[in-house]
Amino acid sequence: MEKETSRVAIVTGGAGGLGFPTAARLTAKGHRVAIWDVNGERAEAAAAQLPGAKGYLVDVTDAEAVEAATMKVVSDMGPLGILVTAAGHNGPIETFVDYPLDGWRFVMSLNLDAVLYCCQSAVRQMLKTDYGRIVNIASIAGKEGNPNAVAYAASKAAVIGLTKSAGKELATTGIRINCVAPAAIETEMMNQLTPEFRAFVTAKIPMGRLGKADEVAAMVSWLASEECSFCTGAVFDVSGGRATY
Ligand SMILES: NC(=O)c1ccc[n+]([C@@H]2O[C@H](COP(=O)([O-])OP(=O)(O)OC[C@H]3O[C@@H](n4cnc5c(N)ncnc54)[C@H](O)[C@@H]3O)[C@@H](O)[C@H]2O)c1
Repeated sequence: MEKETSRVAIVTGGAGGLGFPTAARLTAKGHRVAIWDVNGERAEAAAAQLPGAKGYLVDVTDAEAVEAATMKVVSDMGPLGILVTAAGHNGPIETFVDYPLDGWRFVMSLNLDAVLYCCQSAVRQMLKTDYGRIVNIASIAGKEGNPNAVAYAASKAAVIGLTKSAGKELATTGIRINCVAPAAIETEMMNQLTPEFRAFVTAKIPMGRLGKADEVAAMVSWLASEECSFCTGAVFDVSGGRATY
C-alpha cells in the first residue's frame, strides 16, 4: 500500500469534541490541518498541539467569511485536498409544538447553511486540482429523528440530502463527498443535553454505551483518504448498532 500524499485539510469546529480528534488523526497521517473555529483562542490552542496545523477564527455561518477563509488557507498552506465539517450544535431541547423559532433558525444556520457554504467554497478549490475528499458530520438523528430535537434532526437529514446530491453531481470528478451519522458520542456537546435526553439517546444504542470521539474520527479519516475512491454521496453509520438502514 502506497503512503498517502500529504494534503491540506480544513476541519470546521476543529477545536471541538469530534473535530479535534479528527484533526489529530489527519495530522498523524501526514496531512496539514487548518483548524477553523468560532472560538479563535481554542482554534489556536488546538493547532499548537498538532505539527503543521494552523488555527483560524472563522464563523462558518457567514458565507463571505467562509469563502475568504478558504482562500486564506490555500494561500497560507497550499491547494485544498480535504474538508471535514464538524461545527454544529444541538440547539434547544423542546417539544415540537413549542419549538422556538429562533432556536430553529440558529440550528439551521449552523448545522445546514454553513455546511453548504463550506462545501461550495471547498469544491471551487478542489475542482482546480480535480482532487478532494469532503466529509460532513451528520447524525443518526437525521435518519431516525429524535423527539424534542426537531431542528437538529431536520438539519442533519438535510445534510444527508445535500451530501447525496453533491456526491451524484460531482461523481465524475476527483471529488468524493460523504457523511457520517454518529449516534451519541462522549464529547462536550453532550453537556448541551438534559440528563433525561442523554439517558434517552444512550438507551437507543444496542451496545449500551456512548461512542468515543476517536471511533468517529477513525471513520472520518478513512473517508478523507485516497483509498475512499468508490464511495460518494453515502452515509456511514457510527452508531453502536442503532442504525437500522
Ligand atoms: N457529540 C455527539 O454526540 C454527536 C453525535 C452525532 C453528531 N454530532 C455532530 O458532530 C459535530 C461535532 O460535534 P461535537 O460533539 O464535536 O461538538 P462540540 O460542541 O464539542 O464542538 C463543536 C465545535 O464547533 C465550534 N463552532 C460552533 N459554532 C461555530 C461557528 N459558527 N463557526 C465555527 N465553529 C463553530 C465550537 O466552538 C466547537 O469547538 C456536530 O455537527 C454534531 O452535530 C455529534
